[in-house]
Amino acid sequence: MMKNLMDEKITSKKLFDDRRKFFKLGAATIVANSAVMELMAKEYIPVPSLHYKKATNKNSLELNTFEQITSYNNFYEFTTNKKGVKPLAQNMQTKGWTITIDGLVDHPLTISVDDLIKKYGLEERIYRFRCVEGWAMVVPWVGFELQKLIADASPKKEAKYVKFTAKYDPKIFPDQSRGILATIDYPYVEGLRMDEAMNPLTLLAVGLYGKSLENQNGAPIRLVVPWKYGFKSIKSIDRITFVKEQPLNTWQKENPDEYGFYANVNPHVDHPRWSQKKERVLGHFFKQRTHMFNGYEKEVASMYKNMDLKKNF
Ligand code: MTE
Repeated sequence: MMKNLMDEKITSKKLFDDRRKFFKLGAATIVANSAVMELMAKEYIPVPSLHYKKATNKNSLELNTFEQITSYNNFYEFTTNKKGVKPLAQNMQTKGWTITIDGLVDHPLTISVDDLIKKYGLEERIYRFRCVEGWAMVVPWVGFELQKLIADASPKKEAKYVKFTAKYDPKIFPDQSRGILATIDYPYVEGLRMDEAMNPLTLLAVGLYGKSLENQNGAPIRLVVPWKYGFKSIKSIDRITFVKEQPLNTWQKENPDEYGFYANVNPHVDHPRWSQKKERVLGHFFKQRTHMFNGYEKEVASMYKNMDLKKNF
């Protein structure tokens, strides 16, 4: 597919900003070799291989580069070292991957990711992404709305939550093969309330920058919930289960004092060990302020209007 004009504009603005940043870094004499390499590698944009409807980028968000998005990852199944995920994930095989939809639904189903793509079609969504640790980025995801799949599964009325389970396979994931020495309990689990799952912003992503997801970003299919901290966006999904009770998500299970179920981006509720008022966008030197619901307040605030967001963090 051809690059459109919008791409050109984004790219040249970025190149300009990156050069400025490069000189700023130089002046401060903190140019490490890796920082120079990072800045020089930035303009690589992959050739799109997916068919999808392009986003208009109506908020004129400045995209992070493909290199940035695919080289700095949280994916505990591989390693806790953010730059170490990519090399470790290279051999993961995702061909023929299926996901199972089950629980309180009229139409349980096991379906391949390829068939999901055929069934629902793909569109691009340019979203802000904010990790609970304080880094952020803007990603051009490619995927489809989760609500389409939910409508076809036809949940029973007792289904109040959607539980997502990531793949468990110690042959693929080195940290899972460490048994009781593993960093966290596997499989990785996340959950959404039904209205959150049905929100049109909630995406099942299968690609970014027009190309199928890199393994390190959660191939072949992951969740993207842009108004919540990044840990809600579970990678390499194996199962989507409709349930009555609120699922115990991985980070709440690991550390309930620090991580909750909702995990809505909120600059007014600090993490017990650090402030959430600001964030550092990958590739940027200065921090910027964090927005309520990560900038998606208009679209999502009504879902939480009667909730104490300090208690339900
Ligand atoms: N999904 C799985 N299966 N395992 C993980 O360790 N980490 C989460 C989330 N999804 C994680 C996961 C966290 S903490 C973040 S911030 C995002 O993935 C990171 O996504 P990215 O590497 O594509 O930026």
